[in-house]
Amino acid sequence: MDQMEGLEVVECTKCPELVESRSQIVNGDGPEDADVLFVGEAPGKNEDEEGKPFVGRSGSVLDSELEAVGLSRADIRITNCVRCRPPENRDPSKEELANCRGYLEHEIDLVDPDVVVTLGKVPGEHLLERDVAVTKESGSVERVELGGDERNVLVCLHPAATLYDRSQEEAFEETIAKAAMMAGVEGGQSQLEDY
Ligand code: URA
Repeated sequence: MDQMEGLEVVECTKCPELVESRSQIVNGDGPEDADVLFVGEAPGKNEDEEGKPFVGRSGSVLDSELEAVGLSRADIRITNCVRCRPPENRDPSKEELANCRGYLEHEIDLVDPDVVVTLGKVPGEHLLERDVAVTKESGSVERVELGGDERNVLVCLHPAATLYDRSQEEAFEETIAKAAMMAGVEGGQSQLEDY
């Protein structure tokens, strides 16, 4: 049986290959009323082991950028288009993306964020339903019907892109800063530091 409890998928067998390759379902993480929702592609090895999204190297890059704009994981929610690790970290198939879509829509509906930030090409194309040239379009915003409402979708590079190509760091930083600004979120720590 496939089912959700609140924002968590507790049981799902829709994708036979992913049922084989996963060790567990990796649900979204962070406050259920977050103003910013980050959406990645799919769990990798570390995420599959720990059961949380973005806990590997990509997660560390994201954490540093959040910190740079005065935010932390506790201020944002983060999830993936697909909640199970694909074999050998291949891209999720169209069918797998479609199978997991209802869970993502439900999460967006319940969290009701001010801005949805797509991390990389797969989530960008999945949510905007068109081809996306992420490097060129990073930082751009589109209004899209998601989770029962029209939402701001902010295109962002995948954090791992900055590891392969340092010249992408600035664009990544700017987009994270824009997400924070759009949601009007300020980290408690940086506010304190200002005084
Ligand atoms: N990359 C993703 O897209 N998602 C994760 O959870 C980790 C790395």
